[in-house]
Amino acid sequence: MDSILVRGGGELNGVIPIAGAKNACLTLMPATLLSEEPLTLTNAPRLSDIRTMTELLGSLGAEVASLQGGQVLAMSSHNIHNHTADYDIVRKMRASILVLGPMLARDGHAIVSLPGGCAIGARPVDMHLQALEAMGADLELRDGYVHAKARGGRLTGAEFEFSVVSVGATENALLAATLARGTTVLKNAAREPEIVDLAQCLRRMGAQIEGEGTSTITIQGVDRLGGATHPVVTDRIELGTYMLAPAICGGEVECLGGRIDLVGAFCEKLDEAGVSIEETERGLKVKRKNGRVNAVNVTTEPFPGFPTDLQAQMMALLCTANGTSVLEERIFENRFMHAPELIRMGAQIDVHGGHATVTGVEKLKGARVMATDLRASVSLILAAMAAEGETVVSRVYHLDRGYERVEEKLGACGAHIERIAT
Ligand code: UD1
Repeated sequence: MDSILVRGGGELNGVIPIAGAKNACLTLMPATLLSEEPLTLTNAPRLSDIRTMTELLGSLGAEVASLQGGQVLAMSSHNIHNHTADYDIVRKMRASILVLGPMLARDGHAIVSLPGGCAIGARPVDMHLQALEAMGADLELRDGYVHAKARGGRLTGAEFEFSVVSVGATENALLAATLARGTTVLKNAAREPEIVDLAQCLRRMGAQIEGEGTSTITIQGVDRLGGATHPVVTDRIELGTYMLAPAICGGEVECLGGRIDLVGAFCEKLDEAGVSIEETERGLKVKRKNGRVNAVNVTTEPFPGFPTDLQAQMMALLCTANGTSVLEERIFENRFMHAPELIRMGAQIDVHGGHATVTGVEKLKGARVMATDLRASVSLILAAMAAEGETVVSRVYHLDRGYERVEEKLGACGAHIERIAT
């Protein structure tokens, strides 16, 4: 299993290109199942999660060609011969559940393994299922699989209100509703940029959707969808992560493709902490205003609030802030597993329930640490770049799920970071 070795201490200066969003791409790819005509995604990120979705779609009979080094995904689902998403693939990645809505909508039936547990909390899929049931799906849970059939062979538009804001459940319902008979109204829908991107892509395929980006999305079902070419939206989490690099290490980094509207609440917190963000023609330029940043309090919330996927990285920054910060995690229970690892590097963090109190120290120190999940792994790399001495981050397969060419991108800005194959 590979590790990442970081020698900390230096400033970061340079330019980092931000890739297309993993989470958008993972919901756009299943959209191919809705049509017999080709769907091509450009600006796709090159990540192991995308390869897992490619494998899953392939197992159903979809063709997915990875072109231009993986940045273009040319997909076609004219020959779907299998309607069962197998446990062996689904267990690798929770987003696999997103094939359920499209398969059910197109062919009226699907069998999808329930995704397994996840390190950052229980993460049920009950609302995905409830939304599909509201659209006329008969569901049965058997042997760890959801067996789904559309009553009368086709889903029917319905009004459904999510009890909790859920990105995945909104996506599954939106995908399914495009081919349902009649109108679907999704209330308390998620408003994330990835949902807006999905709606734009579906509209290019011929779907009739209104209200994406607000909490009520209205979908007028159509009989068929066509092909389309769609560029994947910028990855706001990768963007936020690399914006934190100069904030933690000093120096100045320009994140190409960065947009404030993707990371508004996060930018407000960076500003409060004493980090300057300048909009340029090609992205966002970030640097620390003074020496140490100020402590700030952060609460994670659904978009447009502060994203839970940037909480671990923000904590890495606050570990060396002047003063005491409180981070509150409201989306996922058990999402502070990076805290004990940061403590190994000399951080002062007290976790109590859904809160973490971080008292800034002047310097972190290199140590051997372990990545526990995707965002936690990159928070350890950020902390390591600012620490004195060497840090070895093990279990970096988590990192490869969501960040492409991390060593290259940070190395180009002067970070001493290398992958050790073991
Ligand atoms: C997506 C993102 C993930 C991000 C999360 C929140 C992808 C592939 N992943 O995950 O990176 O951290 O949004 O921004 O896009 N819930 C239920 N029942 C359900 C579904 C969700 O109770 O059926 C709960 C979850 O346990 C959680 C909350 O709703 O507490 C939000 O989760 P959700 O938005 O669904 O996250 P994901 O779509 O899994």
